[in-house]
Amino acid sequence: DSIEKGGYEHFMLKEIFEQPRSILDSMRGRLELVAGHLNMGGIRAYERKFMNADRIIIVACGTSWHAGLVAEYLLEDLARIPVEVEYASEFRYRNPVITERDIVIAISQSGETADTLAAIELAKSKGATIFGICNVVGSSIARATDAGAYTHAGPEIGVASTKAFTAQVTVLTILAMIVGHKRGTLSDTRLQELMVELGSIPAKVEKALLLNDEIELIAETFKDVPNFLYLGRGYNFPVALEGALKLKEISYIHAEGYPAAEMKHGPIALIDENMPVVVIATKDSSYEKVVSNIQEVKARKGRIIAVVTEGDTVIPPMAEFVIEVPATSEVLVPLVSVVPLQLLSYHIAVLRGCNVDQPRNLAKSVTVE
Ligand code: G6P
Repeated sequence: DSIEKGGYEHFMLKEIFEQPRSILDSMRGRLELVAGHLNMGGIRAYERKFMNADRIIIVACGTSWHAGLVAEYLLEDLARIPVEVEYASEFRYRNPVITERDIVIAISQSGETADTLAAIELAKSKGATIFGICNVVGSSIARATDAGAYTHAGPEIGVASTKAFTAQVTVLTILAMIVGHKRGTLSDTRLQELMVELGSIPAKVEKALLLNDEIELIAETFKDVPNFLYLGRGYNFPVALEGALKLKEISYIHAEGYPAAEMKHGPIALIDENMPVVVIATKDSSYEKVVSNIQEVKARKGRIIAVVTEGDTVIPPMAEFVIEVPATSEVLVPLVSVVPLQLLSYHIAVLRGCNVDQPRNLAKSVTVE
């Protein structure tokens, strides 16, 4: 067991630290920087379908659903195809409108989630094309789809998903870039820029992992609080949801992720001097707006933990703790900004004495309804 953990105290920590490698593995053979192009074997036969798709419906559960939300931003932004992201469990019972011109992307680490599998069968029966993004090779979902791409993140043992998420987002990014380029919505120049930036992500994740000790100290401060709020906008909104989910899953602290601007329609009522608010506030198109959201939290004495881009000088004076991550393109930011949130939940859970790798009541793969 200790050998398998490679010297780490828990599988989850090992898997968090494996991400520079697992992200690289998920790009292998797909991102060809020297030749200047992208490949994805799984979509080759379905390129025309993607070109003509009326919309893409993404079905998934849990963390994979969060990767799906990131993909909604990516596919609409880069490929200009309307996207809907659905909880597989809702989709399958809703009598959804599905046509032969729809593409359904099913995302699943295990490839065995019962609701996701049932959603696929339903969409198939209506004639949609099903594309799978799975980690486990030969899994039921991988076999049930028309085509797909494996994430190649390697076995994930910790119940709380970490490296599978970043691998899913990497694969979905490559997919959105390929489809956007083919559809002509992503220019050659922008494609090349994004490819170079994607190639630098493993090194940036490596750098974000150096924050580990700093984050452990932050965890010390907050380990006994009963609630947490996570806020983000744009590409960082799904990251806020994922950060909150990670904390709930393994530390049993109640946490909510919210789009920062929606805070005023509810969660703001919860903010007082006891409420920690993690704000993901990297330098991107919504930066100024997120800064105003931070001011709103501060005015109510909320305790701000801000994830910012390296070199930010505006936010640090407003925050109790600042976590600096390397700068990257807005569309790739979730791959970097999620890392400190994974570490924060990990350290809080360890300090609370929780069973990090096997949290109570949760299963790694949910093969029943
Ligand atoms: C369970 C796991 C989560 C996972 C979800 C979806 O709830 O505990 O970590 O995100 O299932 O699993 P999948 O294998 O379909 O990605």
